[in-house]
Amino acid sequence: MNAKINTALLLILLFLNPILFAQSQQKTVDQRVDSVMRLMTPEEKIGQLNQYSDDWTATGPVTVDNDKTRQVRNGQVGSMLNCKGTDRTRWWQEAAMKSRLKIPLLFGQDVVHGYKTTFPIPLAESCSWDLDAMTLSARIAATEASAGGIHWTFAPMVDIARDPRWGRMMEGAGEDPYLGSMIAAARVKGFQGNKLGDINSMMACAKHFAAYGAVIGGRDYNSVDMSERLLLEVYLPPFKAAAEAGVATFMNSFNDINGVPATGNSYLQRDILKGQWGFKGFVVSDWGSVGEMVSHGSAKNDYEAAFSAITAGCDMDMESRCYKNYLAQLVADGKVSMALIDDAVRRILEKKFELGLFDDPFKYCDAEREQKELNNPEHPKIAREMADRSIVLLKNQNNLLPLSKNTKTIAFIGPLVKAVKQNKGFWDVEVPGVDSSYIVSQWAGLVNKVGATTKLLYAKGCEIEGSDKSGFDEAVRIAKQSDVVILSIGERRDMSGEARSRSNIDIPGVQEDLLKVLLATGKPVVVLINAGRPLVFNYTADNATAILYTWWLGSEAGNAIADVLFGDFNPSAKLSVTFPQSVGQIPIYYSHLNTGRPVTNGDVPNTSYIDLSIYPKFEFGFGLSFTTFKYSDLKLNKNKISNTGEIEVSLTVSNTGKYAGEEIVQLYLRDLAGSISRPVKDLKDFAKIALNAGESKIVRFTIDKEKLSFYNQKLQWVAEPGEFELMIGASSSDIRLNSVFELVN
Ligand code: BGC
Repeated sequence: MNAKINTALLLILLFLNPILFAQSQQKTVDQRVDSVMRLMTPEEKIGQLNQYSDDWTATGPVTVDNDKTRQVRNGQVGSMLNCKGTDRTRWWQEAAMKSRLKIPLLFGQDVVHGYKTTFPIPLAESCSWDLDAMTLSARIAATEASAGGIHWTFAPMVDIARDPRWGRMMEGAGEDPYLGSMIAAARVKGFQGNKLGDINSMMACAKHFAAYGAVIGGRDYNSVDMSERLLLEVYLPPFKAAAEAGVATFMNSFNDINGVPATGNSYLQRDILKGQWGFKGFVVSDWGSVGEMVSHGSAKNDYEAAFSAITAGCDMDMESRCYKNYLAQLVADGKVSMALIDDAVRRILEKKFELGLFDDPFKYCDAEREQKELNNPEHPKIAREMADRSIVLLKNQNNLLPLSKNTKTIAFIGPLVKAVKQNKGFWDVEVPGVDSSYIVSQWAGLVNKVGATTKLLYAKGCEIEGSDKSGFDEAVRIAKQSDVVILSIGERRDMSGEARSRSNIDIPGVQEDLLKVLLATGKPVVVLINAGRPLVFNYTADNATAILYTWWLGSEAGNAIADVLFGDFNPSAKLSVTFPQSVGQIPIYYSHLNTGRPVTNGDVPNTSYIDLSIYPKFEFGFGLSFTTFKYSDLKLNKNKISNTGEIEVSLTVSNTGKYAGEEIVQLYLRDLAGSISRPVKDLKDFAKIALNAGESKIVRFTIDKEKLSFYNQKLQWVAEPGEFELMIGASSSDIRLNSVFELVN
């Protein structure tokens, strides 16, 4: 065939397949989106804004909803969630390829702390304060999930949370906006990698926009009543950090804020996110949250709900079907302009182009790659390191830990010792074809570590819940035969998570009673607390010999716990959230205002309880190490800073103990007198440093105007002249060094 005939044939082919024609052009993403949109009918456009969940159970797909399949084939669906694995995603993508324009589907999934390799729950990871480690954890999750056909994770959850009754605290990074922002950016970077379209990258999603962590009474899905200042100062910064880190998508939230549901909130989505922050990605609703505006009482029916959400800037409707059922009508009625729909469609198509799905809709459906990445031997090693870094040492009386590997007999007791799946936490992913028994239980971890040299005894003692103490005798019997007891207690993994609010956050059941009888044997007892939130455990805190807060550590839980118990890893994590002494203290957080009658006022009636201290059990930023650190030699290169200037801060940190270790050095500031009262301290920087025994290092920080700024009464971001206290601490209460400097005009 000669060249002319070839070209003619190609032209005929392109003419017959308009989508191919659109794609064939070497154009910018914008132009390519334009060329596709020109071909789309209004119905196909609305289809792009529609997202369905796959019909899926733990053991695999059950019934295929034929109507969903038909809609995909008709180009009425833009995205699917809960559709995992290359086989399944390929199956759905093939259905999409039968549609007129062959616009590929986007596959979303809650890959919150790992895909096949489960990492520690995000709250646990956040206690590492180790941004590189969290980036890597998200990177591995993206590598595995993208190999399993997933294009998009509904993570990171960046909601600030100060109420441990709220079960979803486990998904976030704790209470502090500064730490939360750094972690938000680190996780976005990890999930998205260098750029969307790289084979092991997936889109991240900053959720839940916004203020979901402040639900009243810690009750999930409840209302939020919040001042504008609190919203701007505390709850929005991690979202802004995610946007600045280039997050591809946002998810709005179930709650209302001051009466306006977040899903239909144009102040949040249009003015702040897409306006002030210039966000170019798209916003997906939370599950059914468009339709839920009817229950909220802010929309009369689904028609009004669809109107409210699309007008407010919610681009994609997850599972409520309001867009699918009513957007066309809203356009026909002249209530919603086609331009508004086009804007949402454009945002979604852009991402599909960036991911490379128009070039190859099956790009992420490579079964061989899936097998390779799911069985990558490096991943469990990285999960173990992350788990090591997430364990918080809360107490270590008489330096009981680390235990000697030559200990003769250890009794390992408790309802969580041999548990397997419990270690995964709430948001683990059921990966098709993967057996969860590869998780290293706490028992297996101990056996791996010292099984050859130490006699290991086991008793369950009791269940997580309930009042049955019939197992106590056996537990006491083996405790008496041992040199040391390790007791593993806590919550069930599904006691913290979505719709898992608790009014009582004590350690459930008779688990603390079990500790009592074990301590009565006179043996030293190390307690491992497994939980998704700060629990209240005053008896344990006051009486156990040593305590490790182990959260839910994921696939490698057992190995990581054993690493710390026997000193192969020196714990370095510090709490990213305040631990109360009692539910009555909630909400409790370190960066509170001083009030006119602080408790430090002595005898004057002050802002205390008459029946309880106002201080937490364990404060934000707290965590022990097997070694000790001395802070000295604080230097500021000047004690006055101008609006454009900087102060260089330096100090020396020395490892004064016997073990190599890592310390998280925290920098707090207080604006001593401002036009509005400022918190007693705000975290503004931190450094995590590694020191060998006896080693010293100089730590440096820089203070500029940005670190001194806040929202004034008119909600303008300003730094006001005046004095600031600088505090360098090993926790928010353990301030080791301080100084005062002045901001001058
Ligand atoms: C949760 C979201 C999640 C979505 C999809 C909702 O119930 O609030 O965080 O991404 O379900 O699973």
